[in-house]
Amino acid sequence: MEIKVTRAQTDRTRPQDSDLGFGQVFTDHMFVMDYSEDKGWHDPQIVPYADFSVSPAAMVFHYGQAIFEGLKAYKTVDNTIQLFRAGDNFARMNRSAKGMCIPELDINFVMDAMKQLIKIEEKWIPETLGTSLYIRPTIIATDPFIGVRASFTYKFYIILSSVGAYYAEGLNPVKIWVSKDHVRAVKGGVGEFKTAGNYAASLIASEKAKKDGYAQVLWLDAIERKYIEEVGAMNIFFLVDDEILTPNLTGSILPGITRYSVITLAKKWGMKISERKITIDEIFKAHDKGRLKEVFGSGTAAVISPVGEIRYGDKVISIGDGTPGKTAMKFYNKLTDIQYGNTKDSENWIEVIN
Ligand code: PLP
Ligand code: COI
Repeated sequence: MEIKVTRAQTDRTRPQDSDLGFGQVFTDHMFVMDYSEDKGWHDPQIVPYADFSVSPAAMVFHYGQAIFEGLKAYKTVDNTIQLFRAGDNFARMNRSAKGMCIPELDINFVMDAMKQLIKIEEKWIPETLGTSLYIRPTIIATDPFIGVRASFTYKFYIILSSVGAYYAEGLNPVKIWVSKDHVRAVKGGVGEFKTAGNYAASLIASEKAKKDGYAQVLWLDAIERKYIEEVGAMNIFFLVDDEILTPNLTGSILPGITRYSVITLAKKWGMKISERKITIDEIFKAHDKGRLKEVFGSGTAAVISPVGEIRYGDKVISIGDGTPGKTAMKFYNKLTDIQYGNTKDSENWIEVIN
């Protein structure tokens, strides 16, 4: 399929890297493509970034049939553009598509389209460590129909955003709040898919957490309400004595690509790491005994984010001394060295955009 390109007539400039927050600055162009049953995915275009028109009856607005991905492009010191594990993001997008009854994408085609878009938007890729071009591929159900079924038509689009740190804290430890009353997802549901509804379901608890001064919610399993699952926008790791623990994938947790990367590196470095069920009580007890050395989250937006405080009901524990822990920093440094091209990509995680 030929991608039609229409150039924007603008000369906007990118904000200073130091002024970038997360997800507010969008670039000049976007990629769009439609799906219908008779034509399949068709009419791929790169067009000026702008509102597009969708019926108020479009099924996405009523029943939430929507999926998305989050990945990043980085600028290296020698001015090349690099993607980190992009194929894994599109493979996950197709798993989300299957889970949400959305037609799958031709991964090679959309990866090429994304690269073409990124090349056009090169000036929007910031250059400082900790900044990048965040890529948000999205699919929404567009049928103007208000009966409940899977849509027959969809729109796929990719928008780009020049970003800095996800958390206002930057690399300083964040505080997280364990939800006792609310759950995010349940085994057998859609928790392992990157679908809009999971985030909508998380809002009530995260608003409560924010009111109490916490950055995000740490979710427990929906049935027994004792096993740790993940944080709002990242997977979670605990260093207990000399062992790294992270919840195993149960179907209700997003299988994070950064999570896989941390596990792979830890194994390679000969660290003890276990993917298993972890109760919140176990973590609080480990803390009481002085065995909980570090807690950190992993995610594309969050990178590696040290956690400095966890609240569970009336109990609050502090982890570390207010600075990022050594283990979290080891992963942060290695991952960002690979992402920004400061070290050899021994894992084959990088794809250069030529
Ligand atoms: N968990 C949730 C709910 C997320 O939204 C994300 C972000 O994508 C992650 C975990 C981390 O996943 P990844 O490392 O693939 O970005
Ligand atoms: C990401 O890390 O890419 C995510 O999708 C998290 C998001 C909710 C900002």
